Amino acid sequence: MLDATPTPDAQVETLLEVNNIEVIYNSVILVLKGVSLKVPKGGITALLGGNGAGKTTTLKAISNLLHSERGEVTKGSIKYRNVPIHKSDPADMVKRGVVQVMEGRHCFEHLTIEENLLTGAYTRSDGKAAIARDLEMVYSYFPRLHERRKSQAGYTSGGEQQMCAIGRALMSRPETILLDEPSMGLAPQLVEQIFEIVKSVNEKEGVTFLLAEQNTNVALRFAHYGYILESGRVVMDGPAADLRENQDVKEFYLGMSDEGRKSFRDVRSYRRRKRWLS
Ligand SMILES: Nc1ncnc2c1ncn2[C@@H]1O[C@H](COP(=O)(O)OP(=O)(O)O)[C@@H](O)[C@H]1O
Ligand SMILES: [Mg+2]
Repeated sequence: MLDATPTPDAQVETLLEVNNIEVIYNSVILVLKGVSLKVPKGGITALLGGNGAGKTTTLKAISNLLHSERGEVTKGSIKYRNVPIHKSDPADMVKRGVVQVMEGRHCFEHLTIEENLLTGAYTRSDGKAAIARDLEMVYSYFPRLHERRKSQAGYTSGGEQQMCAIGRALMSRPETILLDEPSMGLAPQLVEQIFEIVKSVNEKEGVTFLLAEQNTNVALRFAHYGYILESGRVVMDGPAADLRENQDVKEFYLGMSDEGRKSFRDVRSYRRRKRWLS
């Protein structure tokens, strides 16, 4: 399935580079403790880890959404196309080509699906015809949204709202989408369907994705590269195919162990001890 996996080589341009960032909430709560990651152009990069690991905080740091949460990047740097972006507001980010799809599917409940999609085009100045074409493009990826285009978003299902949120992001013609927890609250079959669509948008439209997911299993099947976060630190990273085969990842994130989830770091040292003893 992943034959087209881009291998990390010097030819692939890095779009987004997060370098050793620290994030503090309310001036005291240190949540990210030196997170670094790179997002290559044209790839799907996954940010993995359990609840509270710091995935959403990382995405919000990138798209400058921390202020409203009383959060602040206190160390490190974030660059997009080599330009420091920590002073850009979310609207600037959209103009640079970076758009975030928030966790929990933020649609406007009182607007129809189609009106929601059109709000995604608000920063564009390339005219109605181009916007209408892109609306058709979105409907081609999400036929379900076409069927529901006249429905008030608040009355559509969780899956349809997730699709609407992604479709709305696509309407800004982004270069990069930051996608937070697309699987949240959805049935497995729907999760699969949404990831398939992400994959085809990535391949056919060339949109770069950085996606945060607790569902390691599905994310590693669709992503090219993954970073595992735990307690605000990257504890492991590598090509998705390698992470899928990694014994520690299998035991602790792919549900192949029923010892319960302790800390990933504990497991690694436990495994090291075990190897040493045997
Ligand atoms: N606005 C906030 N104020 C204080 N602490 C927060 C805030 N948002 C998140 N946190 C804390 O930061 C940590 C990481 O949260 P988050 O980035 O949402 O993790 P994830 O998305 O991986 O579940 C958690 O311990 C959470 O309680
Ligand atoms: Mg989150």
